[in-house]
Amino acid sequence: MKVFESAELLRRWRNRQKGRVVLVPTMGALHHGHEALIQLANRRAGPHGVVVVTIFVNPSQFGPNEDYDAYPRPLRHDLAVCRAAGADAVFHPPPGAMYPDGFSTFVEEVSLSRTLCGKSRPGHFRGVCTIVAKLFLLAQPTHAVFGEKDWQQLQIIRAMVRDLGFPVSIVPCPTVREADGLAASSRNAYLDTGERRHAPAIHRALLEAARLGSPATIVRKATALIRRIPGARIDHIAAVDSLLKPLRNRQVEGRLLAAVFLGKTRLIDNIPLPPLP
Ligand code: PAF
Repeated sequence: MKVFESAELLRRWRNRQKGRVVLVPTMGALHHGHEALIQLANRRAGPHGVVVVTIFVNPSQFGPNEDYDAYPRPLRHDLAVCRAAGADAVFHPPPGAMYPDGFSTFVEEVSLSRTLCGKSRPGHFRGVCTIVAKLFLLAQPTHAVFGEKDWQQLQIIRAMVRDLGFPVSIVPCPTVREADGLAASSRNAYLDTGERRHAPAIHRALLEAARLGSPATIVRKATALIRRIPGARIDHIAAVDSLLKPLRNRQVEGRLLAAVFLGKTRLIDNIPLPPLP
């Protein structure tokens, strides 16, 4: 497995590739969820393709009072996970390299980014789109894998690819869960023992509410159930359509999304709301 810190060396290596180049952008602190992204990338790459994992804690997607400094950076562990999951190359640029002095150009999606997590984390998706666009330009992948856990991010990246015409196929990867149902996330490491014990109740609440009929009833039920979780503070719970607008009925595919603080940790999760027959 190659490890690149220099964008120029990554670019030269990439230009020598003849098959598919499948990108897995991450911020490191890799867990089972990332392993699944890399394994899916390997299947997409096929016998002649390569998988490139990027590890970069992207400062522009963190708000001023968020956890940029505290975000875990266990590089040795991350490289071992990449190697074991079958990555061909890792790109791990130093912080300054992606944002040179005087950096003043951003990529901003202005519709899907304005709702849900975009409301409570202003500027977050602008930071995500900017770094992902830069990584696409650098690594020139044919495919890029994104987890469904970050449902809004996945839809925004799809919109960016469509709007700017990036020649990249976006490959969604289903959410990986711990045995008790909690969605795998680097931020789970912030939970104390009590919070960790209560955290799976978020997923259970979504599943229980999703058994009901109308989107409004589902959101009400999920809200009531999550309010009962000790230490939980709801950021948002919403049933949305493919454009992240409130889901009006169950004739179309929908998604039930939740963002919930447990103590200081902000957890997100989502499940499908398939159309009713
Ligand atoms: O999903 C993430 O880990 C990040 O938002 C991403 C896509 C790697 C951009 O920094």
